[in-house]
Amino acid sequence: MSSLIELQNITKVYRSGESEFHALKGISFQLMRGEMVAIVGSSGSGKSTMMNIMGFLDHCSTGNYFFSGENVSRLTDLELAKTRNHKIGFVFQSFFLLPRLNALQNVMLPLFYREESEALARKKALSILKKVGMEKFIDHRPNQLSGGQQQRVAIARALVGDPDVIFADEPTGSLDSKTGIEVMDLFLRLNQEEGRTLVVVTHDKEVSRLCQRVVALKDGLILCD
Ligand SMILES: Nc1ncnc2c1ncn2[C@@H]1O[C@H](COP(=O)(O)OP(=O)(O)O)[C@@H](O)[C@H]1O
Ligand SMILES: [Mg+2]
Repeated sequence: MSSLIELQNITKVYRSGESEFHALKGISFQLMRGEMVAIVGSSGSGKSTMMNIMGFLDHCSTGNYFFSGENVSRLTDLELAKTRNHKIGFVFQSFFLLPRLNALQNVMLPLFYREESEALARKKALSILKKVGMEKFIDHRPNQLSGGQQQRVAIARALVGDPDVIFADEPTGSLDSKTGIEVMDLFLRLNQEEGRTLVVVTHDKEVSRLCQRVVALKDGLILCD
């Protein structure tokens, strides 16, 4: 397996006015292609901050970040956005589907930002919706879907651009435990059958138990890996 992500002594300081908060205090971490990793820790331990930096949603304060062997620590916001659109898929606790678009349109959206043709975007979105078991619901809007179904659509949207890695921040946090396990089964299938690289942020032991590797954060530091 080759290394996809390498964090070297990453820190993150949030500043507001006079006060500073050290959310990450020096984190080193390596993620191999094809791995499925859980990041665990209590609320406030820095899980989302770490994920946002790895997913190009935010800059680190100090340290080095290598993605596919390239040092991406000092990219501009525009370069970060471009890398994010092409290499990263995200899944969030509250789905973040656009309410006025149906399932198919929500899944096609990332491809429009890449200026792919509508015909090709439609074809790719349909095939991914089928893969996540949502082919019967393509014309449903988010409010016509259950939480578990909305999360499947969100997972399809994360997958449609064929990203190098999918980051899921508390993906089961809004779901009942049975539906949460079904969503985790889908992630496991994507990892085992397609070799997808996945990072699942969770504070749920039932969820982290299903991952090959568990990284625990505490107060902005990696406690164990
Ligand atoms: N934008 C921000 N400004 C100031 N403090 C923040 C910001 N984002 C997060 N924090 C603080 O950083 C710490 C870690 O947050 P976060 O990474 O969201 O933790 P977790 O996801 O593990 O709950 C928390 O104490 C939080 O209050
Ligand atoms: Mg969080």
